[in-house]
Amino acid sequence: MSSQTRALIDKLERQHELSPDEWERLISARTPALANELFARARRVRDAAYGRDVFVRGLIEISSYCKNDCLYCGIRRSNREASRYRLTDEEILACCETGYNLGFRTFVLQGGEDGAFGDERLAPLVSRIREAHPDCAITLSLGERSRASYKRLREAGADRYLLRHETADAAHYASLHPAPLSHEARLSCLHDLRDLGYQVGSGFMVGSPGQTARHLAADMTILKGLNPHMVGIGPFIPHRHTPCAESPAGTLELSLFMLGCLRLMLPHALLPATTALGTLTPEGRHLGLDAGANVLMPNLSPIECRGAYNLYDGKASTGLEGAEGIAGLKAQLESWGYRLKVDRGDSLVR
Ligand code: 5AD
Repeated sequence: MSSQTRALIDKLERQHELSPDEWERLISARTPALANELFARARRVRDAAYGRDVFVRGLIEISSYCKNDCLYCGIRRSNREASRYRLTDEEILACCETGYNLGFRTFVLQGGEDGAFGDERLAPLVSRIREAHPDCAITLSLGERSRASYKRLREAGADRYLLRHETADAAHYASLHPAPLSHEARLSCLHDLRDLGYQVGSGFMVGSPGQTARHLAADMTILKGLNPHMVGIGPFIPHRHTPCAESPAGTLELSLFMLGCLRLMLPHALLPATTALGTLTPEGRHLGLDAGANVLMPNLSPIECRGAYNLYDGKASTGLEGAEGIAGLKAQLESWGYRLKVDRGDSLVR
């Protein structure tokens, strides 16, 4: 391992920041030995902030309809092969109830940008979940909305919002997200969310089509400035019915390396070992935790819908990915030296 790249990791651990050039050098010069050194430090930093607790969030995929046409995503509007579903309010409330009884204290309502979930429907739904479960955190992950909408949902009782910035480079963003989507609009949503008092999650895909080390350097720099409460990253995985079907998947190796880097840059952030990581390989989530992650998001969606929420091919959704497997998950985590935490698990980022 060259002493120069090692010095970059030292600097990252000490100062929690690198310049874009330094990021690019570190990412380009990474080796397996350097990665192991990074992961050991990332675990120490995570343990100092959060101990060995792993926070779980119950993920409810409320709609697979989407008005957007992101080139990589399996539920893009143009994918005529996608099977579409939309949960009813009663089904969503029932998922929360099931999750609550399994011990979950955070619900994440995630979905495509579906016009059927306008504020007039969503705000009362959020209020009903809030009333039914005053001790739970309500997280929304429903894409770009107006500031007024985010405000109304916040007032209805939503605490957190997940919106990945996807890629920090405007041209790269444009190459993956057809108009009217834009990098500027995405960032302005993220700033609105923070301003309105949400705990915010952002993130990006690793190995998305056309991504270079320079782009990843920009992703790290933008996240440093945003200082989100949570950062979700996972490998890009091609979906056969999208224009990116032939693009190679992001690698486990680079995804884990970026996770370790994120932990050193943002010691107090919540970092999920994502479903995409678990889809690449069955050990993905364990390796993610050992690279510095501390959150898992098991799937609470009705089992019969899970196959339809198909962002990428082979998406893991049952077994330990499913919320019903929580007892098995707890045992699995313990065997890895972690402790399952079901409480709200608020981020230490302020
Ligand atoms: N591979 C991996 N992740 C994907 N996402 C969408 N499509 C894919 C894919 N093909 C991610 C995006 C989005 C999140 C919900 O899923 O980053 O923000």
